[in-house]
Amino acid sequence: MDRIRIEGGRPLAGEVEIGGAKNASLPLMAAALLADSPSLLEHIPHLQDVVTMTRMIEHLGADVTRTNGGIRIDPSGFADAEAPYELVRRMRASIYVLGPLLARFGHARVSLPGGCAIGTRPIDLHLHGLRALGAEIRIEHGYVHASAPSEGLRGADVVLEGPNGPSVGATCNVLMAAALARGHSVLRGTAREPHVADLAGYLSAMGASIRGAGTDVIEVDGVDRLSGTTYRVIPDQIETGTLMAGAAMTRGRVLLRGCRPDHVQVEIAKLREMGAYVEEDNDTLLVGADDRLRAISLRTAPYPGFPTDTQAQFMAALSLAVGESRITETVYPDRFIHVAELNRMGADITVELGSATVRGVERLSGATVMASDLRASAALILAGLAAEGTTECLRVYHLDRGYERLEEKFRVLGAKIERIGEKG
Ligand code: EPZ
Repeated sequence: MDRIRIEGGRPLAGEVEIGGAKNASLPLMAAALLADSPSLLEHIPHLQDVVTMTRMIEHLGADVTRTNGGIRIDPSGFADAEAPYELVRRMRASIYVLGPLLARFGHARVSLPGGCAIGTRPIDLHLHGLRALGAEIRIEHGYVHASAPSEGLRGADVVLEGPNGPSVGATCNVLMAAALARGHSVLRGTAREPHVADLAGYLSAMGASIRGAGTDVIEVDGVDRLSGTTYRVIPDQIETGTLMAGAAMTRGRVLLRGCRPDHVQVEIAKLREMGAYVEEDNDTLLVGADDRLRAISLRTAPYPGFPTDTQAQFMAALSLAVGESRITETVYPDRFIHVAELNRMGADITVELGSATVRGVERLSGATVMASDLRASAALILAGLAAEGTTECLRVYHLDRGYERLEEKFRVLGAKIERIGEKG
């Protein structure tokens, strides 16, 4: 298993390009199966999760080829095969093939995704939405068995929001199924994340009729077929937030190119509250800080609130701020796995159910730390960049699920950072 070694204490400085959004790429790849001709998805990042989704849709019969910076998906071989536990267990987003299988073939057998380090991750809202479109669904032996009426799925008026608020995954899955259902659908309580709007943009470019994506009510008029097209995925909002936090907490000055400042407005506001400076242009962000950051309070929430996927990275930054910060995690109350490892680096953080108190310290000290989930890994790398001495982060396969060669991006920005392979 690879690890990453960092000699900390150097400000990040220079320019770096933001990659394509992981959490938009995954539903886009599943949605390509809805069409009856090939698509070219551009700017798709080279991530482990993209490799896993590639394996999944190839298993279902699609032909996937990497071109420069993108992937070509030919769905002509797409068949109603089973999405097996062996593949689904590797990545929860595999559940995105459920909607397309049901919409194209009228039935689906998809393994239930497991939970993960940040929570149980149920899919009840996905199933609730698909049932509203007419699907019969039963769970047997850890698999979802779904079947549509003989005449196909039909449009419906359905509330997708659950007790924990909107669901990105359920919104994407049901939106894909509704695009090919007969008649009009109104999806209420839908997630507003940029990657939902990006999926709707791609579906519309393929011929779907969708209004309201990006708001909490999406209307869909089902069509008979969709045609493959070329579509460029949006920049990654979470990578943007991660690199902004790194620039600020190392008191550096970084120009982020190819980003969408409109997708990270709340992260920008919070950084300014912390004393960092952020200059926005239409697709660039200049971020830095000259002095130690200041403590703030932070509460994660569904978009357009502060993203839960950037919480750990901002906690790493706040661990070095002047004063005491409060972080409340409303999406995944247990998403504080990174706290123990940050404390081993000298941070002073305590957690009670769903919220953390971060007492800022003057310095962090490098240590050997263990990555545990995708965003916790990023937080530990950021802490290592700012810490004194050497940090070694183990199990970086977690990081590779959602970041494309992050250590190279930091090296370009002046960090002393290297990846040490198995043999190293
Ligand atoms: C997506 O997960 C992201 N993953 C997650 O990013 C992100 O943390 C999450 O949205 C919230 O923004 C991808 O897009 C691949 P949800 P998803 O359905 O769709 C509950 C990362 O780091 N819920 O919006 O699974 C759920 O338990 C990953 O890139 C139900 O109760 O999240 C949670 O409390 C981690 N029933 C809340 O809703 C359901 O059927 C939001 O979950 C579905 C979800």
